[in-house]
Amino acid sequence: MPPTLKPVITFSEKKDLSAAQLLRLFHQAPWAKHRTIEDAKEMLRHTDVALCAWDGDLLVGFGRVLTDFVYRATIWDVIVDKAYQKQGIGTAVVQRILDHPRLKKIELFWLCTRRPGFYERLGFSSQEQTGMVWSRNKQARTE
Ligand SMILES: CC(C)(COP(=O)(O)OP(=O)(O)OC[C@H]1O[C@@H](n2cnc3c(N)ncnc32)[C@H](O)[C@@H]1OP(=O)(O)O)[C@@H](O)C(=O)NCCC(=O)NCCS
Repeated sequence: MPPTLKPVITFSEKKDLSAAQLLRLFHQAPWAKHRTIEDAKEMLRHTDVALCAWDGDLLVGFGRVLTDFVYRATIWDVIVDKAYQKQGIGTAVVQRILDHPRLKKIELFWLCTRRPGFYERLGFSSQEQTGMVWSRNKQARTE
């Protein structure tokens, strides 16, 4: 049997990517299953930095940043195609964000996650401050 060839993954910063490609990834995650093309397009327009991982022209990883480019930056929607996970792509996406030349002045990167271990390996800490979340959906349910 021939050995399985490992895909060559390339990375790029790209905001004008296809929202359909992005939705293919989002729809693999429980927290982004409901997202629509229209909303994803608008989200991309207002995103400051979008990091993509590609297998040829297939989008296989993504992460994005909202920032003032000086003091604070938040990282959102880090996701890797299920078939490509555990190969270091997620780590590379986040590391490229942290090393990004336009983000080199940022004092504090911030994110919310259900995978703290993944980010701790990249130097993130949950000890520094308490993050708090206001969820529109949860508020609506208690009204
Ligand atoms: C979280 C997520 C982005 C990580 O992406 P990934 O590409 O699998 O990340 P990495 O490969 O860099 O690291 C993941 C794990 O694989 C391991 N790994 C990395 N390269 C490896 C390799 N060559 N061989 C075996 N394991 C490897 C890492 O040590 C890490 O271990 P962990 O599961 O104990 O944390 C991905 O799991 C994902 O998209 N999840 C669904 C969406 C989500 O929950 N996102 C979090 C948003 S906050």
